[in-house]
Amino acid sequence: MPDTQNSLPRHIAIIMDGNGRWAAAHGLPRSAGHREGAQAVRRTLEAAREMGIAYLTLYAFSTENWSRPPEEIDTLMKLLDRTLDEYQKSAHQKDYRILVSGERERLSAGILAKIDALTRSTAQNKGLTVNLALNYGARQEITYAFNRLLKAGLKEATPSDIAKHLYQPEIPDPELIIRTSGEERLSNFLLWQAAYSEFYFTPVLWPDFTKEELQKAIDAYRMRKRRFGGI
Ligand code: FPP
Repeated sequence: MPDTQNSLPRHIAIIMDGNGRWAAAHGLPRSAGHREGAQAVRRTLEAAREMGIAYLTLYAFSTENWSRPPEEIDTLMKLLDRTLDEYQKSAHQKDYRILVSGERERLSAGILAKIDALTRSTAQNKGLTVNLALNYGARQEITYAFNRLLKAGLKEATPSDIAKHLYQPEIPDPELIIRTSGEERLSNFLLWQAAYSEFYFTPVLWPDFTKEELQKAIDAYRMRKRRFGGI
């Protein structure tokens, strides 16, 4: 590879898009696309861990996703429930630390209990930190930070005050944000944290995402010139 500009990103965030189109292209129901999408999540976690990525944020369910048909929401919640069970069994062996970013309201009591147990039991793991953006919206997150500052009695806030009151303040901003399926927008994802992120868009549909695709995105990132407003 030619000379690179950047070292390995510490934090990669992914907008996993294209499950529905993958299913349509295979003549299958949308639920089959989401099931394959969950497989791609497993592969990507493994790949990121093997590559030595420290933090991986995955956009699993947005606040806007509640507007989907009830059967589809049900499929996504069942897949999530199963995934949480799976992590509870395997997270220690794989050394994953699981965090969740998002609003608790509207999530079922069962899912919330599993999230709480999992985040508690993996808190000391030192391998890959997986941050699941679940019932997540970036405007909601910034509003959440703002309201906490107001409650604390602050009359004026600095950018650092706001950053410290986001859902997961100890996670560094993502150097790289990937979106699959050819769509090129942020869709209310990490608006605050993306200030200096590099974007990588690929036409690959999320269920087809592989370790090689992740490597391609990282290679492209490593070649980018990042100037952070300087010259
Ligand atoms: C986008 O596909 C995908 C989502 C709605 C969120 C991601 C969900 C998964 C990968 C499934 C399981 C995840 C976990 C963590 C268990 P889309 O339905 O918007 O696709 P389309 O734009 O082609 O219709």
